[in-house]
Amino acid sequence: MDSISDYELRNYQPGDEVQINDLFNAAFGRNSVFTPRTLDFWVWRYLEMPGFDPKGVFLLEKGGRIVSSVIETLRKAKLEERVFNLGVIDDVSTCPELWGRGLASKLLEESIKYAEQKNLDGLTLYADPEGHAHKIYLKYGFIDVKTFHFYIKTLSQNESLIGERKSGEKPSGGVLEPLTRENLKDYAEKFNKAHTRLEAFYPLSIDVLNWRLFASEKAFPSQTWILRSNQEIVGGGTLRIREIVAFGSKLKTALLEYMFTTKPKDAGAAKVILSKLLEEARKKDCPMALCIISSNCDFESKFLESSGFSKVSEDIQMIKPLSEFDFSRPVKHCWYTPYEHMIG
Ligand SMILES: CC(C)(COP(=O)(O)OP(=O)(O)OC[C@H]1O[C@@H](n2cnc3c(N)ncnc32)[C@H](O)[C@@H]1OP(=O)(O)O)[C@@H](O)C(=O)NCCC(=O)NCCS
Repeated sequence: MDSISDYELRNYQPGDEVQINDLFNAAFGRNSVFTPRTLDFWVWRYLEMPGFDPKGVFLLEKGGRIVSSVIETLRKAKLEERVFNLGVIDDVSTCPELWGRGLASKLLEESIKYAEQKNLDGLTLYADPEGHAHKIYLKYGFIDVKTFHFYIKTLSQNESLIGERKSGEKPSGGVLEPLTRENLKDYAEKFNKAHTRLEAFYPLSIDVLNWRLFASEKAFPSQTWILRSNQEIVGGGTLRIREIVAFGSKLKTALLEYMFTTKPKDAGAAKVILSKLLEEARKKDCPMALCIISSNCDFESKFLESSGFSKVSEDIQMIKPLSEFDFSRPVKHCWYTPYEHMIG
């Protein structure tokens, strides 16, 4: 059997993206639920991401074939009024025939060294608490800090669901408009202000919002709707369509991302936004909608349940502390959901 020293350790080089993407699909394709990626998606997700550093892409290669990867990107998070520089670990993949030979462990060690060299406050990632990868992360000092609930709702064309506006019915309490480059600045301001109520959030720059919502047009199209009342933005939400493979079946899924209201617990505005996103999802023939929320978002959970959503699974956010801060301290507020890392 090969030993780890038979594999060349290196960072991303232009041209690697095809192999890295194929590796992701081969490795994650072994999981019962996964989101296949296209090459365009990988290019957008990493190469086009503001601040992307090729040195954060760790690869093992043998004979010109990339067999294992770990990708680390940087994100700021605000917790208890302190701002932390975190490395986010994604795409932990090894080609299935080489599982169990220590390849992913080697790359995780490299990603930890990189975080230490950069003086980061911690490393974070999202994992299935039932998956074997969770145990690897525990071994490397990652601790469970937050649980996220996955809510789904099946959609059918003609149904009028509890809590939802009927198709064609005028929204009460506001006017909906699509996000454009012209209203982006206004949206960013309200989006960031509303999200500062959440733990682990750090304001998203215009560059990042542009990348997430406009630069992804080809790879991962989205539509964002803004709700205004008396000219003022009172909420918004984004719809993206993603194919999810669950237990062998492909499902065109409507991801409902970053729904927010500027006033806390504003069920009226939330209902108008959710109805709009579901209406658009039906137009695109999605049989299912998915929304992810932190486990302590009681108001949001009840709101989704009353709109016909059911909780189907959960993910755990783990952090490996690299500073003295106690990341395991319980938090009362809701916790920010970084969709780009959770439905990568
Ligand atoms: C998770 C994954 C990257 C591990 O890669 P790997 O190169 O096999 O990892 P390692 O060889 O370094 O194994 C690390 C540990 O996991 C264990 N392990 C690896 N594959 C396993 C499996 N299929 N079932 C149970 N344990 C497994 C190893 O025995 C080892 O444990 P040990 O250190 O106590 O001996 C790989 O299984 C994979 O690509 N899975 C699909 C993608 C995925 O789910 N990624 C994680 C997302 S959070």
